[in-house]
Amino acid sequence: MTKTIAILPGDGIGPEIIAEAIKVLKTLQNSFALDIHLEHGLVGGAAIDATGYPLPDETLDLVKKADVVLLGAVGGQKWESLEIARRPEKGLLGLRSELKLFANLRPAILFPELANASTLKPEVVENLDILIVRELTGGIYFGQPRGIHTLENGERQAFNTLVYSEHEIERIARVAFESAEKRQKRLCSVDKANVLEATEFWREIVIQVSKDYPNVALSHMYVDNAAMQLVRAPKQFDVIVTTNMFGDILSDLASQLTGSIGMLPSASLDANNKGMYEPIHGSAPDIAGKNLANPLATILSVAMMLRYTLNQPKLAIAIETAVSQVLRDGLRTQDIGQNAISTREMGDAVVAALLRSA
Ligand code: IPM
Ligand code: MG
Repeated sequence: MTKTIAILPGDGIGPEIIAEAIKVLKTLQNSFALDIHLEHGLVGGAAIDATGYPLPDETLDLVKKADVVLLGAVGGQKWESLEIARRPEKGLLGLRSELKLFANLRPAILFPELANASTLKPEVVENLDILIVRELTGGIYFGQPRGIHTLENGERQAFNTLVYSEHEIERIARVAFESAEKRQKRLCSVDKANVLEATEFWREIVIQVSKDYPNVALSHMYVDNAAMQLVRAPKQFDVIVTTNMFGDILSDLASQLTGSIGMLPSASLDANNKGMYEPIHGSAPDIAGKNLANPLATILSVAMMLRYTLNQPKLAIAIETAVSQVLRDGLRTQDIGQNAISTREMGDAVVAALLRSA
C-alpha cells in the first residue's frame, strides 16, 4: 500500500536539507520499489509568513492523514520578536502534542570515519553508540500554568510548571526499557530527584516499571552529573531516559561527541510507532540559503523512518551504509571537515552510493 509522507521543510536550512532527503526518497521510490507518495506542508516561520500561524489547520490535517512526517527545522531571528505562543517553535511543539509523539529517540552514534571530528580525544568517543530517549509531550515544555504576570506590588514575575503524571512517565519508561532490551540492556534514568519533586516522582515510577524488565540493568543519575559524565566517559552509557527539558539539553551535548550536530537524526513516536522524523539540529539561520548545511542528519532521519514506521529495515540499512560510504570516501560538509563539499553535493554523493548498492 502506498504510504503518504508529509514533508514539512520549515525554516532556515530546513528547505535545503529536506531537498536532499527527498532525493534519497525518490531514489528509493524509483530504484528500490519503495511505494510512497509525498505531500508538502508549511510549518514554523514559513507558515507564519504565509498564513499568520506557525501550525495552520491545513498542515495539521495533512500530518494527521499522512502515514509519517519528515520535518526540516523551524525558527529564525525574523520571528523572535513575536510572543512565544505565535513563534515558529510553537509549530513544532504543536505537531508533537497534536500527534501525541511522546517518545523522542535521539541516537548519538559515532561514525568511525568521524572520530577526529569530535572535540574529544578519539579514544574517548570511538565506537560510541548511545540512545537518548527523551519524553517529548510533557514536563516543563507543556506544563500549566505558565506565563508572565504582574504582582500586587507592581513587579513582573514569570513562571513555568514542571509537571508529570504517572502514565506519562510510565509509557516513556517502557519505550526506554524496550529499547535497552534490544541493545546492551543498560538504562540510565536522568533526573534531579535531589531537588525537584516532579523528578523524584519520575525516579519512583521508573523503578516501578523496571520490575517488568528484570534483564535490563537500571541506574539513576542526577542531570548535572550526567552532563559531566557524558563528556568525561560517554561510553559508560547505553540508553538514557529523561524528561523533556533535560533530554533537549543532553541530546545537544551528546551530538557534539559524535563530531557534529549535523549528523544526528531523531524519531518522535506515538504509542503505535507512527512518527515524525527530523534532524536534531535547528534551522541554522547563519548558513541558511548558502548550500553549506550538512544534510546527513536529515537523510539519516529518513533511515529511522524506514526502520520504525515504514517497516523497511533493509532500506534503512542501505541508507546508513551509503552515508558510511561517502564518509569513507572522505566527503565532508563544512561542519565536519576541511575542503568541504556543498549540501547538494553531499546529497548527490549519498544517492550515488545508494544506487551502487541497488
Ligand atoms: C529540539 C529543539 C526544539 C526543542 C525547539 C526548536 C523547540 O531544540 O528539537 O531539540 O526544544 O525541543
Ligand atoms: Mg534542542
